[in-house]
Amino acid sequence: MTDSPAAAQPVVEMEHVDKFFGDLHVLNDINLTVRAGEVVVVIGPSGSGKSTLCRTINRLEGINSGTIKVAGEVLPEEGRELARLRSRVGMVFQSFNLFAHKTVLENVTLGPVKVKKSGTEDAKKRGMELLERVGVANQAAKYPAQLSGGQQQRVAIARALAMDPMVMLFDEPTSALDPEMVNEVLDVMVGLAQRGMTMIVVTHEMGFARKAADRVVFMSDGQIVEEADPESFFTRPQSTRARDFLSKILTH
Ligand SMILES: Nc1ncnc2c1ncn2[C@@H]1O[C@H](COP(=O)(O)OP(=O)(O)OP(=O)(O)O)[C@@H](O)[C@H]1O
Ligand SMILES: [Mg+2]
Repeated sequence: MTDSPAAAQPVVEMEHVDKFFGDLHVLNDINLTVRAGEVVVVIGPSGSGKSTLCRTINRLEGINSGTIKVAGEVLPEEGRELARLRSRVGMVFQSFNLFAHKTVLENVTLGPVKVKKSGTEDAKKRGMELLERVGVANQAAKYPAQLSGGQQQRVAIARALAMDPMVMLFDEPTSALDPEMVNEVLDVMVGLAQRGMTMIVVTHEMGFARKAADRVVFMSDGQIVEEADPESFFTRPQSTRARDFLSKILTH
């Protein structure tokens, strides 16, 4: 969340991005620029391409045409440069994919020690600070299975932050959680947004979008159909597809 995102540097730039799975056109001429400090919420029906969009940004999925830049650099196909850029794109998924046989603190320090070559003690100190920030420092010595889903997801956020990401991608981070744990994770995300983190968040949590998003991007059938500030999008959606979609999620 920034006052003037229009003036900030682009962190993620997608230009004319197309992606197919066989005959299926999953991303159809996607143009999206996310600037430093911006929080963009991506919303849309199941199968509209939201997860695929996130996955192409750090090349978990390749694209068929178009360009994707991270911090002004075109993502390389492979190799060291890709690993370097990818390590600065934090990702938090729906399922809490922590390493089961590592403690909470080890989960957070592993990346910095292995990839960033941080010293073990530095990594631990920073790891504890991050666990503190997401409210699970008292769980540092436990194993993931001993934590609730909400706690595990907060560890996953701390783990991503430990790599000093330029941007954080969240793909439905609260949709696998029991309802009472949703807010503890959303609160951490709102806090990150307030600290100026650049974020792309796939979520149907309208409360989060209203509180933290600078922009809502509505996807349908692989296309960005509509983009607006949250208030305008939720109160005055322009397209039939957005209106239909909102009428469905709002009745739940
Ligand atoms: N690896 C794959 N191989 C083939 N088709 C795929 C693959 N991954 C996704 N798809 C298809 O691509 C389309 C977009 O999928 P994607 O997961 O990006 O949608 P989504 O908007 O994230 O949906 P949801 O809200 O259900 O998570 C869907 O039709 C899906 O079935
Ligand atoms: Mg998805």
